[in-house]
Amino acid sequence: MTRRTLAGVTISALVVALLPGAAATAATTPLYRDARQPVEKRVTDLLGRMTLADKIGQMTQAERGAVAADPSLITQWRLGSVLSGGGSVPTPNTPQAWVAMVNEFQRAALATPLGIPMIYGVDAVHGHGNVYGATIFPHNVGLGATRDPRLVERVYRATAAEVRATGIPWDFAPCVCVSRDERWGRAYESFGEDPGLVVRMRTAVDGLQRGGVLPTVKHYAGDGDTEYGTGSGDFTIDQGVTVTSRADFERIDLAPYRDLHGVYTVMPSFSSVDWTEDGVGNPTKMHASRELITGTLKGRFGFAGFVISDWEGIHQLPDATVPAGEPRPTAKQVRDGVNAGTDMFMEPNTAARFEELLTAEVTAGRVPMSRIDDAVRRILRVKFQIGLFEHPYASTADLGQVGSAAHRALARQAVAASQVLLKNRGDVLPLRRNAKLYVAGRNADDIGNQAGGWTIDWQGRSGDAIPGTTILEGIRQVAPRATVTYSKDASAPIGKDDVGVVVVGETPYAEGFGDVGGPVCSWCTEPQHEPKSLSLQPGDRAVIDRVCAAAAECVVLIVSGRPQLITDQLPEIDALVASWLPGSEGAGVADVLFGRRAFTGKLPVTWPRSADQVPINIGDKTYKPLYPYGYGLRTRH
Ligand code: GLC
Repeated sequence: MTRRTLAGVTISALVVALLPGAAATAATTPLYRDARQPVEKRVTDLLGRMTLADKIGQMTQAERGAVAADPSLITQWRLGSVLSGGGSVPTPNTPQAWVAMVNEFQRAALATPLGIPMIYGVDAVHGHGNVYGATIFPHNVGLGATRDPRLVERVYRATAAEVRATGIPWDFAPCVCVSRDERWGRAYESFGEDPGLVVRMRTAVDGLQRGGVLPTVKHYAGDGDTEYGTGSGDFTIDQGVTVTSRADFERIDLAPYRDLHGVYTVMPSFSSVDWTEDGVGNPTKMHASRELITGTLKGRFGFAGFVISDWEGIHQLPDATVPAGEPRPTAKQVRDGVNAGTDMFMEPNTAARFEELLTAEVTAGRVPMSRIDDAVRRILRVKFQIGLFEHPYASTADLGQVGSAAHRALARQAVAASQVLLKNRGDVLPLRRNAKLYVAGRNADDIGNQAGGWTIDWQGRSGDAIPGTTILEGIRQVAPRATVTYSKDASAPIGKDDVGVVVVGETPYAEGFGDVGGPVCSWCTEPQHEPKSLSLQPGDRAVIDRVCAAAAECVVLIVSGRPQLITDQLPEIDALVASWLPGSEGAGVADVLFGRRAFTGKLPVTWPRSADQVPINIGDKTYKPLYPYGYGLRTRH
């Protein structure tokens, strides 16, 4: 501070002398509140002022639903964080209401003795999916097909702008899962099967960062590499066991976690790891792996941020001392989860229980205070680093970012770049703008199906779920001079000179409810009740047969989170496109169908010839897929 003297008295001293209150304030403002101080000093100062209740509160995250009716619980429990799970939204579900909700929760957090701000987290995994009116981008499998890290960075930066505009500073994304088995219900959350591709797409982290939102890389590690049949509960593969050697785990599953620059939070996986060299049959849950969380992630990789558990992740930890029906988490699960190295615990509806149990474990000396202090130090460090103490409240200044025209244009560009052209007999694509088209299939005019899971609802929903353009609407926009007949089930007459465009594929799902052979989501909308399969549903197959038999040419688009077996119908199909889950801007599909943009996409995952080949990945000794990883035809535009 520069000081000028006035009659021998420094001006600053004079000011202090004239304003006695200033002296008192300067002296009593705690160091941790001084933004000019180094972060580590602020952390140490605040840590030294915290009670055990303050510290354990910072390690606890509750779900919106548990505190919305009585936000004073945030004060009472001294919560470090609150989240919205998939589909957990304020009423009305508007950007304004999100800002108001987050600020109401923040007021409660700042009413605690030390006034430590809470941090609000949400899953914005393909745009701000929870918020009605947000731009919904292609899911990661489609972004992997673009092979364009710069585009991915822009997509996640736009996502961050929309998340931030609703008052939220933290996104549980990107999933840096390496998806090795298409039967996994979360395959579409992965950028692909090749760890090198996933590493290249970590620009998603940069995009969130630059957009002012804290990213979370997840799920550490091996979430996409579990063995079919080992799934947790009714799931067939999700949350299962990664049976592998440490060498392969390092090469495939840990690859996306080696470069942690800009990474402030990591989320462990529900899955387990079972080392082949130690004799298979002794899996360790990732949430209990001290070797991998403390030893590898924090030790060997030098991770200095904090680890946030997955949703009730410690409730799945083994505890033979407590019968299965007893309340979770148990004391042992809390102890094992904390001692393994996780720092904050996503306890949506059991926050108070978690805090009581952890307090008892610390008091009993079964969780060392050094572990608590390490966890809280990490959490506070991040909160100081992102300026949360200086700017705890959200503003409504940027609400126009949500669903903006610029973001929708970017999403449309990403959709076009994600389309993979697998077959194009007779160069039937691109279509003429004045073509006579017969459009059919259940995914031609269903924006909910083209968006997929994590859209408005956790599991997504079929039908008119969000604003945007369906693929059919895109066709009509891009080719207004075309003659378009639309018949969802192809029951309308088909002209022999028509060009058929058949859009089939999957209905939305998320997590284990998307596992092939997994449980059916009973509370979802129709027709999501259908069992998940790598084969197209019978109704889809029938529409393809009907249109391709009668039309002059037929183009089939598969809107799905993963490859679908099409081998036996391939001969009747002239052109085949993998559309993945495009999101709200279906016009991007029409852009490549009519040549406004060229097809440039490449397969991010292997397209199997038959179910018995799965899992099948690039690098396998026997590798005879229908279409190999990286395959994709180009067109001129
Ligand atoms: C879910 C998912 C995780 C998500 C979390 C919060 O179960 O596993 O990816 O971030 O819960 O919604």
